[in-house]
Amino acid sequence: MSGWRVCVYCASTLAGSVNKEDRLLNYLDALGLTHETLRPANYCEIGCRLGYSLALSRVPAIGIDPDYEIKVALTAPTRLFNTTSDSFFARDDVAQILGAPIDLAFIDGLHLVEFALRDFMNLEKHASPDSVIVIDDLLPQHMDYASRQRNTTIWTGDVYRLIPILRHYRPDLDIRVYDVDMKGFGLVTRLDPSSNVLTANYGAIEADILAGKWSFPTVAAIRDHMQPRATDLLANDLGIVAAQRAAKGSMQSDRRAAPALSQRRPRLSVIICAYEMAREAPRTILSATAPYQKGLRSDEYEVIVVDNGSSTPLTYDNLPPNVQIVRAPDPRQSPVFALNWAAREIAKGEILLFAIDGARIFSERLIEETVKAHDRMEDAFVFSLAWHIGPKVQLESVPEGYGAEIEDGLIRAARWPDEADGLFGISVLAGSSSNGFFGDITESNSFSISRTSFDRHGGFDERFTSPGGGLANLEIFRRYVTRPDARNVCLLSEGTFHQVHDSVATSGKNRWEAFAGEYEAIFGGPYLRPSYHCFYQGKPRAGMVPFILQSLQG
Ligand SMILES: C[S@@+](CC[C@H](N)C(=O)[O-])C[C@H]1O[C@@H](n2cnc3c(N)ncnc32)[C@H](O)[C@@H]1O
Repeated sequence: MSGWRVCVYCASTLAGSVNKEDRLLNYLDALGLTHETLRPANYCEIGCRLGYSLALSRVPAIGIDPDYEIKVALTAPTRLFNTTSDSFFARDDVAQILGAPIDLAFIDGLHLVEFALRDFMNLEKHASPDSVIVIDDLLPQHMDYASRQRNTTIWTGDVYRLIPILRHYRPDLDIRVYDVDMKGFGLVTRLDPSSNVLTANYGAIEADILAGKWSFPTVAAIRDHMQPRATDLLANDLGIVAAQRAAKGSMQSDRRAAPALSQRRPRLSVIICAYEMAREAPRTILSATAPYQKGLRSDEYEVIVVDNGSSTPLTYDNLPPNVQIVRAPDPRQSPVFALNWAAREIAKGEILLFAIDGARIFSERLIEETVKAHDRMEDAFVFSLAWHIGPKVQLESVPEGYGAEIEDGLIRAARWPDEADGLFGISVLAGSSSNGFFGDITESNSFSISRTSFDRHGGFDERFTSPGGGLANLEIFRRYVTRPDARNVCLLSEGTFHQVHDSVATSGKNRWEAFAGEYEAIFGGPYLRPSYHCFYQGKPRAGMVPFILQSLQG
């Protein structure tokens, strides 16, 4: 390692040549903020070189580097280990050195992915579930910087490949990458020191790495996978982690509170697909989150809005902490790929709730009732009915002049969202739900399954390539409600409300024939309505009563 020089990033920061107000957040700022916000009990750094990042620690620290040459004052009690990280962890007893599990760690050693992976594995093993691991060098600005051979002054190496590996093997981890100046900054929480997954798969992972897997051809493709968060979200995100750590610490004397507060992984992931929905998606997001959405704490579920290639990327002011908007990596006209991708690569919940159409507003306890249904019945398929806002189903109302402006007026007059039930009064049951609560419906715009079921019975069928997915949502509904030993649960108090937009299914452009043709071409036979049994969850609220009566008469 004798060829190492002063890290160019540190050099520019320390030279003070750039006005702090003008420059972007760099990795030392980000790491400093992490120390200040988390106030860790101790700190472990892999790769300390001249000591610039190590000097940020104010708590007992260890630095591991076979070639360090500390040039700055280290104010915290620090022990330096002149060795590689692999031999350090093989030989030294971290718990004995620190007297406690590692609380905050920084990976900035050898910039090759398999080394960074082993660093992560070793650190996690010696950490606690509440510890935090920071990873440097995840967003190379040029592919030259990302090569495995160092050819440039700036060199991130292929450390970025660690993220797809972790996202694949360890969906239980919370991994966030920030757009920190020049090289990115990764924050990993929800650690599980007892996890054996990476160790058990290490041989295969290393072989895959050497065969070129988990790499991307361009900087844009790397960024697409990383979905870096804006740096101004870092302070807020760290604040949440700090609050969770504090809650966990203060909880130890109150064992009864422990299970709820120590919930480390969201129970449920809501996955919403949106395409060109600048008007509709903000209402959907509002309806999926607190304070509108009632009954669950926001750390008990997450909302993933997948923007499936909108011409202007979807944005939302003051995005709540449990919501992320991600761009589908390879957007296609059918949303099925984006939904499956988000379920496999992004979602962390053990329950997956799918909303194929991001224009659907949720009723206010839909998420709580969904979780309750899953709690009551193992391996359940939980679904809700759908409504269309307006006087008629939109396939009929749109040709007669119904549109966004009329709908906005109706929603305002219904005093939504202040009157959460107001939407029932201005909506009709969607065509696919027209058989009501006690007949068989054909699809749901909010259905949920366990991740185990998703893996066993499959997600959306990716052979549906039609715009909007064609009959993909009907097919998956049919597949789940009719599977052997199906345990179907219909929510009796909750539903979704479709806002009019330019969707192929409801904007008057009835493409049923083309969609049915696609279905037949895939399955070799026509689509047939499913017939199934179901259980019910929840008490109908006042706004729902007319529809229950309609269903009984139906
Ligand atoms: C980019 S520098 C670290 C810079 C430092 N974190 C900072 O920001 O001031 C990378 C360091 O990793 C060290 N390194 C290389 N291979 C290593 C290994 N196997 N284990 C630990 N450190 C290693 C190098 O000697 C080098 O000093």
